[in-house]
Amino acid sequence: MLKPIWGAVTSAHQVEGNNRWNDWWAWEELGKVKECSLNACDQYRLFAEDFQLAKSLGHTAHRFSIEWSRLEPEEGHWNEEGFRHYEKVFDCLESQGLEPVVTLHHFTNPIWFARRGGWLQKNAAERFALYVTRVAERFGRRVRIWITLNEPLIYIYQSFIVGIWPPGEKSLDKGLNALRQLLKAHVLAYQILHEYARGADCSVSIAQHTIAFTPCNRKSPFDRLSLFFRSWFVNQLILRSLLSGFLFFPGVFCEKLPARKSLDFLGINYYSRDFVRFQGLWGLDQFGAICPKSHHGKEVGEINDLGWEIYPRGIYEIVTSYRDLKLPILITENGVCSEDDSLRQRYIEAHLAELEKAKKEGIPILGYLYWSLVDNFEWAEGFKPRFGIVEVDYTNQSRRVRPSAQVLRKSCEQIFGRT
Ligand code: FCB
Repeated sequence: MLKPIWGAVTSAHQVEGNNRWNDWWAWEELGKVKECSLNACDQYRLFAEDFQLAKSLGHTAHRFSIEWSRLEPEEGHWNEEGFRHYEKVFDCLESQGLEPVVTLHHFTNPIWFARRGGWLQKNAAERFALYVTRVAERFGRRVRIWITLNEPLIYIYQSFIVGIWPPGEKSLDKGLNALRQLLKAHVLAYQILHEYARGADCSVSIAQHTIAFTPCNRKSPFDRLSLFFRSWFVNQLILRSLLSGFLFFPGVFCEKLPARKSLDFLGINYYSRDFVRFQGLWGLDQFGAICPKSHHGKEVGEINDLGWEIYPRGIYEIVTSYRDLKLPILITENGVCSEDDSLRQRYIEAHLAELEKAKKEGIPILGYLYWSLVDNFEWAEGFKPRFGIVEVDYTNQSRRVRPSAQVLRKSCEQIFGRT
């Protein structure tokens, strides 16, 4: 049984800088987003300083992602320099006593993989599995907690449905095909990681994006019905499919996965809430529509710099909704972007208080990871949103710890104990 952990999160493309072999870099070069990631936070060079900071702030764990395109910049060409880099990253985490929580896919793909059709290829999952095998061979004995995929539904939505992320598709059919490949890739990765662990501690999950939902009109049974379908689709479907081995949504899709149970714990990302209203009963309409926040006046809490509502009770609602699954829950992301650090302090305190409440009610909370350790490149939104408990001055890559880092420490030590 894993002991409780807490700390912060980053992902390779958002912090490392110069990830020029992946599809996001190519997308930025095509001018598809307002800013290019360029050096990002230069964490490829500065990781040791950042981990030292995390340690000095009391963290016991650190979640980060391995960049596939650094290990396999061309198909079948395994880049030793990339492996050596992550070896140093693991050495450094170990010397700081930080438990690594490792993500294998955080929205980016090698350019060669994308050119061959990315997640729409018939053997996409098998290609991903070759990469996972190399990672497991090399780093398997150093990692106990794995996240195979970060937010598969968000990735599909942004990349294949609305098309604002690479490959910029706008097709539900393609989105569903890519989702099938991703889930298959997860199951294969789950099997590989366990095989290489050879009985040693090894816990594997995905990071599931979750949203708290409130019906637009609490008295309307129709709004409630849409909310039920929507929250099932957004928050439950993938996790429950990976636990049953069967991906099923009436009228949308039905698929058997290659294994029955492929989650050892639940990785949960939670940020915000939406209001849902009825839109119809068939096809995508059954999931309802999102109601503008302005419509709800005083009921809406504070808003972050991206317009997302701050709704701390949501983290409680989400984690308790998995009670029947009886699996440990790791909050793999939760955070807020704001220029105003006092908002971040309130956010952290309030969310952790709700989490503590759930824990006291018997929900097995394995830990909490704040997004993010340092300000970083927020995908299509560029560098403007500031999520870090550590501020980055991009003109000279200097770091400055924000007061919220101490609030995080205090709240986490209260829940998970001091180490
Ligand atoms: C999550 C992503 C992460 C970051 C935060 C703000 O959905 O996993 O990369 O962008 O949102």
